[in-house]
Amino acid sequence: MKVLVTGAAGQLGHELCLLLAEEGIDTVALTRHELDLSGPGDAITATIARHRADWVVNCAAYTQVDKAESEPGLAHAVNAVAAGAIARAVQDYGGRMLQVSTDFVFGGDQSNPYREEDAVKPLGTYGSSKEAGERAVREVLPEALILRTAWVYGEHGHNFVKTILRLAGEREELKVVDDQIGTPSWTRDIATALLALMRQDASGTYHFTNEGVASWYDFALAVVEEARALGQDLCLQRLLPIPTRDYPTPARRPAYSVLSKEKIRPLLPAPIPHWRTSLRAMLTAGTDPG
Ligand SMILES: NC(=O)c1ccc[n+]([C@@H]2O[C@H](COP(=O)([O-])OP(=O)(O)OC[C@H]3O[C@@H](n4cnc5c(N)ncnc54)[C@H](OP(=O)(O)O)[C@@H]3O)[C@@H](O)[C@H]2O)c1
Repeated sequence: MKVLVTGAAGQLGHELCLLLAEEGIDTVALTRHELDLSGPGDAITATIARHRADWVVNCAAYTQVDKAESEPGLAHAVNAVAAGAIARAVQDYGGRMLQVSTDFVFGGDQSNPYREEDAVKPLGTYGSSKEAGERAVREVLPEALILRTAWVYGEHGHNFVKTILRLAGEREELKVVDDQIGTPSWTRDIATALLALMRQDASGTYHFTNEGVASWYDFALAVVEEARALGQDLCLQRLLPIPTRDYPTPARRPAYSVLSKEKIRPLLPAPIPHWRTSLRAMLTAGTDPG
């Protein structure tokens, strides 16, 4: 099997490339430098077509949720138009495509886990652009594999875990929202799920996150507790829960974005770890500065 990964310098792209290398799988890792998804569609399709990979995994995305509100054209170009261009190239040579998507396609007004067939209702530009990306891919490749995940963190790249560790090392008090509910998800576990689906030649839309449910406050508290248990010296003394209305952001976020894993569970080689177990594993492995 030959796998091409876009966004190979991102959190998930980097982790997937590490896993594919460990598994001895022929991998083409393309960073933004080698494949710019804001560029012309012809250049994108030409690059994808040149490699003729069995699977193209699109991990590249415009992921700055708040900034997207002031750059809707760029977010749409990268997350939707380019995803369609990749799909066209894959369709031309008869390959398979795995499009990575997000819980932000949902509106967050449910109180039970979102299933794959639930109605989408993105709240902001980032979510709309990712949802348009799903449609662009499905239009060209009805058999494409689409995996929605959420609250992504890993050793590599920028994420909430690293931000909390940095701030807890600098400040005595932190306030974190406690009325947005989801599931923190480790890149290692997501990459393992992606590979399992590719190996089984899966098609259609799937949800994957770690198990369990948390607010951002719960997540921050766990980061601090787990880091301290591993011997990290943090000056933080007070972690305070606050409502979303006290932390205004340019983009609205879903209040509830827990994803149902019922559909994907039978395809996975092992039970999905609880988010806290994986957080501990990630912190034990250590973070890189990237
Ligand atoms: N992060 C989350 O919490 C989260 C949640 C749900 C779903 N997802 C989805 O999961 C996937 C992976 O996200 P991630 O967390 O790994 O994000 P990430 O760390 O921001 O990585 C995204 C990668 O895409 C690249 N990229 C951005 N604009 C590009 C362009 N114009 N051309 C080519 N590459 C470009 C970035 O390059 P640079 O490094 O040069 O910026 C980065 O390497 C995405 O589809 C995202 O929508 C993420």
